Amino acid sequence: MVDDPLAPVLQFCLSALLVLAFQKPPPSRSCSSSSSTPSIISTAYSRQIGSTPLIKLSNLSSFLPPSCAIFLKLESHNPGGTGKDRIALGMLNSVLASLEPHQHLDSIFEGTSGSTGISLATLCAPLNVECTVCVPDDQSPTKFAQIESVGGKVHVVPTSSISSPSHYVNVARRLAEERQAKLDKQGGGGVSVFMDQFNNLANFRTHFTTTGPEILQQMSDRKAPISAFVMSAGTGGTVAGVGNYLCQQQSPPPRIVLADPPGSVFHGTVTTGVAYTQEQKEATIRKHRYDTICEGIGLDRVTGNFKRHNCCDSVKVTDQQVVDMAHFVLRTEGLQIGSSTACNLVAALHEAKRGGGGNVVTVMCDQGKNHIQRLWNREFIEGKGLVWPGAQVEWEKWLETL
Ligand SMILES: Cc1ncc(COP(=O)(O)O)c(C=O)c1O
Repeated sequence: MVDDPLAPVLQFCLSALLVLAFQKPPPSRSCSSSSSTPSIISTAYSRQIGSTPLIKLSNLSSFLPPSCAIFLKLESHNPGGTGKDRIALGMLNSVLASLEPHQHLDSIFEGTSGSTGISLATLCAPLNVECTVCVPDDQSPTKFAQIESVGGKVHVVPTSSISSPSHYVNVARRLAEERQAKLDKQGGGGVSVFMDQFNNLANFRTHFTTTGPEILQQMSDRKAPISAFVMSAGTGGTVAGVGNYLCQQQSPPPRIVLADPPGSVFHGTVTTGVAYTQEQKEATIRKHRYDTICEGIGLDRVTGNFKRHNCCDSVKVTDQQVVDMAHFVLRTEGLQIGSSTACNLVAALHEAKRGGGGNVVTVMCDQGKNHIQRLWNREFIEGKGLVWPGAQVEWEKWLETL
């Protein structure tokens, strides 16, 4: 046998290759690990966000003059059941994209009426990022249970004014700062973020680049130019983002109309330029923050996202109209809606009848099942001094009052 001088070299190379082949792969950027966060979220959940259906409410529209129709963008079809999925993903992706190579996202904090908390907590679950949400105590408890069930932490905070340090948004901001101070002491590049959906413009941008284009495309496919887009405001991200997009892209531009519940200053801001509402008069206010059964909408301050609105008009909606509309939609279309959707529809019908008609688009913000403890609870509604609509309501007469 002739000795091959290259044999030891070949043997070494072969063993090195075998070692490499059976070595554990390096941790993937998309796997959850405390020291590695992906630069963009891509999960089964995140990939289902957006591209929601838009439907015509034919039965409800039949109560209007023939030239009018109401269309509903079903944001309730997002995987978390609300349009908040869109902005939670938008805000998280913008945080992840801003991290330095030596940093990782440790935790996020948010002040929310609940829906944004559900979306954030669900998106954080595969990231190994702790999600804490601070919620006011006047919201439906089902939302809090949902957040906890996916691993989020919930701080229920007594309802108070934004000027108070114990307001849910201020508590969330403070907790994020305290966590960051701890992380800084530890070293290791951990980052804690206050998401700030009210002022974070990733919210506006998300609706400008996704919800707005979807609505325009869906209405163009139906060859139905949009006469008006009607929407309530919580952070103001939807009405401002969609409103600006539609007015930039459609000619002639649609009317952008705000739907505002009692106690909110947004209506005054749109109609008079003054962020004030009658319900703020001393001795008339029932709660510190605002005076409505509506959840997730209406505010006692103007937010960074709402400042970008291009509304030309606003409809002030009463709580009784919200209750009545919820029952009317159930009877005519078989849809169980929530309070903000009912508020949107009251203003949409008002706009269809008085604002010039045509195709009025509004939003189904979430699902009625989130509201069974409040809007769909007779005891709760009557306890608020409101009337539970009976089977005898003459809806045509009721519609004339809008
Ligand atoms: C159920 C529901 N509807 C409507 C809105 C308002 O949407 P936006 O925050 O984009 O103004 C919110 C906001 O939190 C909400 O939770």
